[in-house]
Amino acid sequence: MLPERSQTCGTVVSEGFQLEGGANPARPAYVGMPDSRKMSVMSEDKKFLLPESAIPTGWVNIMADAPGEPLPPLSPATGQPAGPDDLSAIFPMSLIEQEMSPEPVVEIPDEVRETYKLWRPTPLIRATRLEKALDTPAHIYYKYEGTSPAGSHKLNSAVAQAYYNREAGTRKLVTETGAGQWGSALSLACQWFGIECEVFMVGVSYDQKPYRRAMIETWGASVHRSPSDLTEAGRSQAAHESGSLGIAISEAVEVAAGSEDANYALGSVLNHVCLHQTVIGQEAIAAMEMAGEYPDVVVGCVGGGSNFAGLINPFLRENIRNGKTTRFLGAEPAACPTLTRGKYAYDFGDTVGMTPLMPMYTLGHDFVPAPVHAGGLRYHGDAPSLCAFVHEGFVEATAVPQGAAFEAALLFARTEGIIPGPEPAHAIRAVIEEAEAAKQAGEERVILLGLSGHGHFDMSAYQAYLSGELEDLELDQEELDAAIERLPEAPAIA
Ligand SMILES: Cc1ncc(COP(=O)(O)O)c(C=O)c1O
Repeated sequence: MLPERSQTCGTVVSEGFQLEGGANPARPAYVGMPDSRKMSVMSEDKKFLLPESAIPTGWVNIMADAPGEPLPPLSPATGQPAGPDDLSAIFPMSLIEQEMSPEPVVEIPDEVRETYKLWRPTPLIRATRLEKALDTPAHIYYKYEGTSPAGSHKLNSAVAQAYYNREAGTRKLVTETGAGQWGSALSLACQWFGIECEVFMVGVSYDQKPYRRAMIETWGASVHRSPSDLTEAGRSQAAHESGSLGIAISEAVEVAAGSEDANYALGSVLNHVCLHQTVIGQEAIAAMEMAGEYPDVVVGCVGGGSNFAGLINPFLRENIRNGKTTRFLGAEPAACPTLTRGKYAYDFGDTVGMTPLMPMYTLGHDFVPAPVHAGGLRYHGDAPSLCAFVHEGFVEATAVPQGAAFEAALLFARTEGIIPGPEPAHAIRAVIEEAEAAKQAGEERVILLGLSGHGHFDMSAYQAYLSGELEDLELDQEELDAAIERLPEAPAIA
């Protein structure tokens, strides 16, 4: 039985609350609102906060519900399914086991749960002000991961990876970072678990986000601009000055593989990373129950797929096992549209070709996405587990141009207050479109948004948007076709 929705006495919001547009072209189209912009007294709860005791005790392993037999990663050397030995040079065995686990639930170690208590459970918030601005009958909720010390969902996996590496005696973790969110999260987690940390940061983000770099260093890690001249991989890609996640991964893997007591840590894509992120979706289910609602549609942004998978997988299990009918919608950048325009094929996870081949929607491992501001979404592939569900029609995807994403982010910031990261801004745009569709259909649709992080270190991107300098960078079909031509030889996926 769901609890009755609790009633509060209304929240009085100051008269004269207005959404004034900023400099042209920043005024969101949705802001053509009448005087009802003034917020009225609301009678419903705004935030749904779970107690610490509701932090999940296990992670949801969606591989146990995968459609058909999961396609294995392949060793690039033999073309045969990659086994634990192919991964043991760079990952501890505990994470390799999680990567391949068929268990439906993986227990969360006490020390990881204790560490999660620093910021979890994260809040579920009803976007009443956004609903009002859109004049939509839809109920919009967002699960906000920006309350973590590092500012995003990335810490959920960083803590788990640092813990298992410390248990395995790892001295140092080496990693890549796109937006700087993963690098900063891992730097903090390594600090907590007494491990050194070295970060290769995608060149364009390194230049755009000096304060993310400072954050990484504040928590004790070292950070290099990628491509760097510290690795063979970096030197071979020096022509791609702006860098890419694929190149930064190659650099980090090379350093980790060349050292006896260093390991590599990936911030997305792999099964174990998506697994760790399922604390988000499990808490969301419990908090939605507090709100007395269940989502008709769940929306999130997709870079490598970890925050979206972490949010949707527990709901997806409810669809598969318990007959729920929630829709799932992943939002990706139009400049790096893996799920909507990529090929479903085996490809390398990195640019140089050092990782196992993974079955995924890919734009080609040597494709270098345009330098859009959502640095965390500039990845050529996506989590194989998520791709399998997209391929089988369980999950939908949409591509959003960055201008439209920032337009939506501005409306969100001016109504709900939180300045979203450029990555979840893509999902906000998709949520607004869902809410508009609900209005057209006259439906009280319940929409759940994964707000994966704040944008406090992305203000140069907001500045570019506000001053009209932000370009929409679409992907050229010829460039994409050429990158797909260069996919490695591997069995075709039906
Ligand atoms: C705030 C935020 N959201 C989303 C992403 C995309 O990553 P993923 O698709 O793995 O969640 C990133 C990556 O850096 C990020 O920083």
